[in-house]
Amino acid sequence: MSSFEIQKIISAILITVLVVFGIGKISDFIFDKDEDSVVAYKVDPPESDIVKNEAEASLDLKAMFALADLAHGEKVFKKCAACHSINQGGGNKIGPKLWNVMFRSVGAVEDYKYSKALISYKKEWNWEEMNGFLIKPSTWIKGNKMGFAGLKDEKDRASVILYLNQNSENPKPLP
Ligand code: HEC
Repeated sequence: MSSFEIQKIISAILITVLVVFGIGKISDFIFDKDEDSVVAYKVDPPESDIVKNEAEASLDLKAMFALADLAHGEKVFKKCAACHSINQGGGNKIGPKLWNVMFRSVGAVEDYKYSKALISYKKEWNWEEMNGFLIKPSTWIKGNKMGFAGLKDEKDRASVILYLNQNSENPKPLP
């Protein structure tokens, strides 16, 4: 055998080994045979994140508030009135008084005992926060104690937020 042929054979063996080894590595990487890391693929994002992302993705405040109707908002607020007052000088009920709630800090009524979840939330009630909260209160601020399922309908939310905004010392122009 010439040294050239020997070289060819050695090269062929080397290439085969490299290819087989390489494919094995790559497929390990893609299919991840390790049981523990397979589990990692199954971890779903927390439900609150899903709701938030959906809300953010579909949030066109301008379009939503185009649906807002003050009289409709007053009607929708009847669902809230069991637990909340809205008029100026109104008191706390099961929930805190809501006069002036728009653009106030979350959990700011001094004589109301909020859940820890609300107190530690540290944001203000702007359009986005109020909208997200009212879609599904239990997932927007995890662990809060507002026993209310939420308002699925955009017009209901836009209208009740408009109503909250009007019941304030300083109503802001809608977005
Ligand atoms: C079954 C009673 C109940 C109903 C119905 C209800 N809420 Fe509440 N709400 C609460 C409670 C209790 C809290 C305080 C939550 C906490 O401390 O975790 C709260 C808190 C809030 C807050 C936060 C206020 C702040 O000072 O930070 C807002 C805003 C609010 N509710 C709006 C509404 C609106 C709007 C509706 C109607 C669409 C409604 N709620 C329906 C009980 C209720």
